[in-house]
Amino acid sequence: MPDLRDTPAVVVGSGVAGLSAALALAPMGVTVLTKTTGPAGGSSLHAQGGVAAALGPDDTPALHAADTVAAGAGLVDPDMAHLLAAAGAERIRALIADGFPADRDAQGRLLLGREAAHGRDRILHAGGDATGRALHAFLLGIAVRTPGITIVPDAVAVDLMVRGGHVRGVLTHGADGWTVHRTPRVVLATGGIGALFARTTNPPEVTGDGLAMAARAGARLADLEFIQFHPTVLDAGDDPAPLLTEALRGAGARLVDAEGRVFMAEEHPQADLAPRDVVARAVHSRRAAGKAVFLDVRPALAGGAGRFPTLLKTCAAAGLDPWSDLLPVVPAAHFHMGGIAADADGRSSVMGLWACGEAARTGVHGANRLASNSLLEGLVFGNRAGRDAAAAAAPTPDDGLPTDPPPVPVAAAAGRVTGIIADLRRLMQDHVGIERDAAGLAHAADRIDALTAAFAGLPAERRRRHDPAILRTWAEAGNRLTVAALIVRAAAARRRSSGAHRRTDEPPHPHHPDEGMPACRIP
Ligand code: SIN
Repeated sequence: MPDLRDTPAVVVGSGVAGLSAALALAPMGVTVLTKTTGPAGGSSLHAQGGVAAALGPDDTPALHAADTVAAGAGLVDPDMAHLLAAAGAERIRALIADGFPADRDAQGRLLLGREAAHGRDRILHAGGDATGRALHAFLLGIAVRTPGITIVPDAVAVDLMVRGGHVRGVLTHGADGWTVHRTPRVVLATGGIGALFARTTNPPEVTGDGLAMAARAGARLADLEFIQFHPTVLDAGDDPAPLLTEALRGAGARLVDAEGRVFMAEEHPQADLAPRDVVARAVHSRRAAGKAVFLDVRPALAGGAGRFPTLLKTCAAAGLDPWSDLLPVVPAAHFHMGGIAADADGRSSVMGLWACGEAARTGVHGANRLASNSLLEGLVFGNRAGRDAAAAAAPTPDDGLPTDPPPVPVAAAAGRVTGIIADLRRLMQDHVGIERDAAGLAHAADRIDALTAAFAGLPAERRRRHDPAILRTWAEAGNRLTVAALIVRAAAARRRSSGAHRRTDEPPHPHHPDEGMPACRIP
């Protein structure tokens, strides 16, 4: 029997979106569940480039929204883009007023950088290229001092408990074994899906857990086929792949071929600062043709290497000298534009369930996210989801929640679970990557079915408490398989290319951006 704990609200995930939601829910009391050992997991910490916000004298939220809409390949919801840009600029001003240590020039003015597809200098940094880490640390510092917020580390959220069409609780497994957190309000801020792919910038915990839980609970998911591949990670075979931030290209770094020749001007009028999907395809197509691609960061370092401490660490670890070496690059899975269908207040299609940050699909990114809009999204929509959840009426607590936790594979099967995960990651990389076609997607669907059957057939047992590592790997593996199957279905249904979704076999008649599968559920 799981322990039963009552709590007014639960947030799953402790990145920038989750902490923003928790801060808004703090007055009523909120439990933040995070599966990592400590609240410092997830993608937020890895965001180097910065936070986009219309703060410069020549900038406005309307211009920022227009760039967001243009990057999204016709599928951004313009009202949501305006909301993000306007509320985002306000939120950043408030954070700076509260002491957020944004980078400044010698005169004390905010340093605003340029990134791909932005028409103005509007990328705010902190700690140089360690912006996500600085922002997360700042929010966490506030959260731990705020009464009403309880952060529970090593807590794997396994499933939502829904009865009568309303969320009633979350089944979790933590250090003490199984627990039911009985609550009428759950905010999913579990991040993206990068670790479904063999090559990703995301840390290993980014396994689509919130999407899988929401899908199993009957919530609508949308735009799952839109996955952004970052064009420049260091090709050093590391997992996760080390990101070479786009801010480097904003500061003058250039993509070059093996002869040192620049090539992006042949691909797009904005050359190295073209939208991310364009740059990723340009790098991918050259590599697919057997040609190496490099980032020449020397022009960026000429303006001062102090802005890029993460780059210097990455190069030192790889034995490269960025002042003299060209850095070999390859694209990697980076960000999910799709997710749990959510409105401007983070409401999903299931009562009592909200989603925010990368786990949500609000329509702000369309088919291709504008660089550095993701931390902003976490700040704005995390706060909105938390506020809306706090204001929502709750049904009376449910005394009849099911109490039988699921069986978990026995320890002897652990190697087979990790084998299934490795096969799935390779499959997604090979057939659901930057370029897709019907045959590859059909193959991926068949293989995912076979892996799912193998996973379900593993010998399993019910225990009050499982080995935490086995439990987490099992929960993540099931979530990976669920979400991968849904992504493949969505990618197969959208037969024409749009933004980051590139079909090499698209039918030869006029493009209609709204075809595909705008929303899906588990069949
Ligand atoms: C980067 O620094 O290039 C990534 C930032 C982002 O994904 O917005």
